[in-house]
Amino acid sequence: MSCAYDAESGLFTIHTQNSTYQMVADEHRYLLHLYYGARTEGDLRYLVTYADRSGMCASPHDVQDRTYSLDVLPQEYAFQGGGDMRSPLLVVRDAHGTFGCDLRYVRHEIRDGKYALKGLPAVYSDTEDDGAQTLSITLTDARLGLEVELLYGVLPKLDIITRAAIIKNAGAEKIVIKRAQTACLDMVHGTFDAITFCGRHAMERRPSRRHVGHGSLSVGSRRGMSSNQYNPLMILCDRDATETSGRAWSMSFVYSGGFLAEIEMDQFDQVRMQMGLTDEQFSYPLKPGEQLIAPEVILTYSNAGLERISHNLHRCMRKHVCRGPWRDRPRPILINSWEAAYFDFNGDSLARLADKAAELGIEMLVMDDGWFGERKDDLRALGDWTVNEQKLGGPLRQLADYVNSVGLKFGIWVEPEMVSEDSDLFRAHPDWALSIPGKDPVLGRDQLVLDMSRKDVRDNLFEQLCGILDQANIEYVKWDYNRSIVDVYSRLAEDQGRVLYDYVLGLYDLLERIIQRYPTLLIEGCSAGGGRFDAGMLYYTPQIWTSDNTDAHDRMTIQYGTSFGYPCSSMGAHVSACPNEINGREVPLSCRGTVAMAGGGFGYELDLLELPERACEIIKGQVKRYHEIEHLVREGLYYRLSSPLTDAIAAWGYVAEDGSEALVSAVVMNVEGYGVANYVVPRGLTRGALYHEEYSDTVYAADAIMDMGIPLPVGSAPYMSRMYHFVRIDG
Ligand code: GLA
Repeated sequence: MSCAYDAESGLFTIHTQNSTYQMVADEHRYLLHLYYGARTEGDLRYLVTYADRSGMCASPHDVQDRTYSLDVLPQEYAFQGGGDMRSPLLVVRDAHGTFGCDLRYVRHEIRDGKYALKGLPAVYSDTEDDGAQTLSITLTDARLGLEVELLYGVLPKLDIITRAAIIKNAGAEKIVIKRAQTACLDMVHGTFDAITFCGRHAMERRPSRRHVGHGSLSVGSRRGMSSNQYNPLMILCDRDATETSGRAWSMSFVYSGGFLAEIEMDQFDQVRMQMGLTDEQFSYPLKPGEQLIAPEVILTYSNAGLERISHNLHRCMRKHVCRGPWRDRPRPILINSWEAAYFDFNGDSLARLADKAAELGIEMLVMDDGWFGERKDDLRALGDWTVNEQKLGGPLRQLADYVNSVGLKFGIWVEPEMVSEDSDLFRAHPDWALSIPGKDPVLGRDQLVLDMSRKDVRDNLFEQLCGILDQANIEYVKWDYNRSIVDVYSRLAEDQGRVLYDYVLGLYDLLERIIQRYPTLLIEGCSAGGGRFDAGMLYYTPQIWTSDNTDAHDRMTIQYGTSFGYPCSSMGAHVSACPNEINGREVPLSCRGTVAMAGGGFGYELDLLELPERACEIIKGQVKRYHEIEHLVREGLYYRLSSPLTDAIAAWGYVAEDGSEALVSAVVMNVEGYGVANYVVPRGLTRGALYHEEYSDTVYAADAIMDMGIPLPVGSAPYMSRMYHFVRIDG
């Protein structure tokens, strides 16, 4: 059993294979956090110190003890109003405008299986026998009639603990939730670094590592999406933690809208890490009987460095967040029309692209933006999901059938949540766009955002999308979202403070309806590339377009950063034209292939018809190679063998869970003068074993190459790349 309660002491203990989490409902019925660390037994209450620190640390009235203050004690669900002046998870305002609550433990329940959340994505347990459990602890505030159900989901074999909170108004008067974060982790001592993942459009998720000092360090998004700028993943680690050593804790938000992740060091050098909904433009009214769910946060712990954090998260995201048949299947190698032709295509040119792709072994043609309504550029027609048959030279089915007839699957691009002012949809329903009456709306890419909190809007989109998907054999959809939300006003909402949250639930509702209706459809998430690369989207879309930046050099850094929290199987990665259209960099086709093959959504995004014969031969070789190694990219354990941001070579690897096979890729990033040899040093191979390297037909001893590595050719040019496919020699 993973979860246990001891009635005498009030201790709640959660065990996973390698970690233990403990809290206590103490004699005052406050829920204190005690420990989240290496697996251990016993009562850990001794970790908490009680002392009369200062009259400045308030004590609850009924406790009458100056050594007891919530301002000092480690909290499990920090709320505003009990004297804890650190950053709270929960802030409530009552019907009279007064802030403050007082949450105490009343009951709990332990049950088998992992909880689900109504209307929200959540980690799920896959099989009956994986030992998953749920611990539910209810706290109440008697004055407000407020009930907070804290949910803990445990996947013991994966070292994953999830948290969510259901905030209910069980009282007689309306209350307003001003802030509803999901989880905090209070550390009573330690010297830490914080790692966050920051960037911008076309340069997402660069790791940013900072010392944790006094005050608060936070990242988040107020954009209505998780954002290209900051990812909802945060790691706290020992100051000297490396890939393979030291303690680390991570939080990942299973939510695709605005968020806040914060690390605060308090007056006594204690550290609080927390994550949840942003409180900006948030003010959620609850009438008696209503509830609000604070979305799920995934926690994991490692005492073996950052690599294990990633392994735990990858296993969890791959098999317990991603769903549907494509979760476990090789994804089709695709050719996408965007960087091949932008808006400049027609049915004929796509047919020629499909012919060429078929010749090269590519498996799917994706018709990107520009196929619907009057969409000849990005100024118009979003919202008008009708096929431009004139441009395609006939019905959609004709094109899809042709593409199928040459042996390729067929997919399309959509951006359902958006509307152009110049569109029939907007002309008919201007009130369906989020915009503030009397204020000129702010445009992003010349488009407005549809009010996804409205069911009538979602129904219309569902009908329009089905109208397209039913027309032809469409096996893939790229679901895009290309701007931030600025004007938050829904014509139907009683309170505008709930709109951003209800928007995200509306998005999930529409995605779920599409998935239920088309269970075998592969959906790739996209948001100006990687603007919604989060666990929430992965629940609906098992792959996400990692970034609009397809330059192999920049992509290595983007994929490196992304790999801390997300499995390679979820990363869309394409080979594009050279020089790169975003930054003008020139990288050889072989290296572009090596880098794109690092993702589970491999493909091409360039005009194949313009390629010289030699390039076509290289592409045929890459397609063949991808088939040989794709199972390792999709299911192998991932190793960051160097940093493309700082090291002379970028190297990464994948090892089958049973150690029988591995793939290692390396790219020369930086060259200097004569002579320094660069070595690729794999990890994760079976100690004592010999491996056959398939491409060079060489036998290596695992211990030797994991110790001293394999040299790359001395004097290699920048972007020289190598792949090594190791197969263990058994018996
Ligand atoms: C976004 C996507 C691109 C492409 C364009 C089409 O920018 O990230 O891949 O689909 O939209 O307009």
